[in-house]
Amino acid sequence: MQELQQRILQDGDILPGGVVRVERFLNHRVDTALACHIGQAFADAFRNDQIDCILTVEASGIIFAMTTALAMGELPVIIAKKGQRRNLGDDVYTADVFSFTHQTTSTIHVGKRCLEKGQRVLLIDDFLANGCALLGLIDIVKKSGATLEGAGIVIEKGFQHGGQEIRDMGIRLESLAIVDSMTDDSLTFRD
Ligand code: G4P
Repeated sequence: MQELQQRILQDGDILPGGVVRVERFLNHRVDTALACHIGQAFADAFRNDQIDCILTVEASGIIFAMTTALAMGELPVIIAKKGQRRNLGDDVYTADVFSFTHQTTSTIHVGKRCLEKGQRVLLIDDFLANGCALLGLIDIVKKSGATLEGAGIVIEKGFQHGGQEIRDMGIRLESLAIVDSMTDDSLTFRD
């Protein structure tokens, strides 16, 4: 997505260790017009897949899950919650997610009453690095008996293994910007 790539080059920053900072327009201070264009791009990519609902994980994924759901015709959005969620009760699907960035493991939860068997699910998230968050969501979809139609990612870090692993599983993965390589002051995108 040209607009997104241009914006990353213009307003993104690079941290040592292969981290892209995008908090001035994407996941902290949110450019809502860009967020809507991102939602429309995912809606266009999955328009023929009869998606019933969108599943994401808190926090930043919610922004793009919402804009995608609205662009696809006001679909429901299910937000996997992190940490202990007593108010969801025991009636939950869970998956453990290791964060390479934060070096921590957290458990994500989705209430069983929120994700129904047979529903056609699209996963949306902001970043894909090693793929742990996405693998956790995939695990939850499997446990629920819903049907996974694919995943949409705003920024994939192509130099980490998550994207390849997900594609090798036969899952359709649409990333709007794939960062192929980074140095301390520049980055390149895959065509
Ligand atoms: P993985 O899920 O693909 O394995 O990735 P990883 O554990 O490395 O990512 C953990 C968190 O770090 C995720 O946010 C992810 O969005 C974020 N992240 C990964 N790489 C980058 C990056 O280059 N730049 C930025 N800005 N973020 C990155 P989170 O902490 O789980 O959730 P959220 O609350 O920020 O949404």
